[in-house]
Amino acid sequence: MALIEVRDLVCRYGSRTILRDVSFDIAAGEVVTILGGSGCGKSTLLKHMIGLISPASGGICIGGDEFIGSDANTRQCILRRIGVMYQSGALFGSMSVLDNVRLPLETFTRLDAAAIELIARLKLRLVGLEDFAALFPAELSGGMQKRAAIARAMALDPQILFLDEPSAGLDPVTSAGLDALIRRLAESQGMTFVVVTHELASIHAIADRAIMLDRSVQGIIASGTPDELARHANPIVSGFFLRKPED
Ligand SMILES: Nc1ncnc2c1ncn2[C@@H]1O[C@H](COP(=O)(O)OP(=O)(O)O)[C@@H](O)[C@H]1O
Ligand SMILES: [Mg+2]
Repeated sequence: MALIEVRDLVCRYGSRTILRDVSFDIAAGEVVTILGGSGCGKSTLLKHMIGLISPASGGICIGGDEFIGSDANTRQCILRRIGVMYQSGALFGSMSVLDNVRLPLETFTRLDAAAIELIARLKLRLVGLEDFAALFPAELSGGMQKRAAIARAMALDPQILFLDEPSAGLDPVTSAGLDALIRRLAESQGMTFVVVTHELASIHAIADRAIMLDRSVQGIIASGTPDELARHANPIVSGFFLRKPED
């Protein structure tokens, strides 16, 4: 059974339709990238998938539970299964890295302080930041801030992590390190990833499957493995994969 099922999704802002008839499944343990040109609706799709925005129509099932129109209880259950790192992915600047990761545990669980600290340190270890727990976000490099944000998103042991352009603003080497982390978490923790990115190197490095959106169709123009998309008959699709890295 699919872990995530998106069915006939229609996304609008006011009277403006951004996406229509978007349907796809994501299996547990898959790393799926959502790609496409700027403004095609990648962040919009992600925000719908995490329940931040309600669709004009269509359905989203996570772990067999329907998200759209669900009661508060079901919604809470679903939200507990997902972790999110937004495009602006900011940590709280006035808190240490450790406190940032502790925050969701303090807010959403009744664990005692010692247990919370243990879990928070474990998450920091998973992203390679165990020695930086006491630092403040501004004292970290851009790549380390992203790792810390991933640790915070993982605090409540989500089944699925949604990342919106995690490598934005990072240099290629740091970006490759983040890709390796995503792949490692998928393989060692069995985590499912939905990653919005238009970085070709990242797509090739992490994606089991890629879903490409395009404004011309207001939805999915192609989906498949990165290699399949690079050989796709539609020049919009294959062109995206053949562009030079600096484009
Ligand atoms: N909150 C909003 N209200 C109205 N229009 C929006 C809003 N957010 C995004 N849009 C518009 O929807 C389109 C898709 O945006 P977005 O999903 O952010 O694209 P992407 O992430 O692919 O760059 C853009 O034209 C954008 O201007
Ligand atoms: Mg976006």
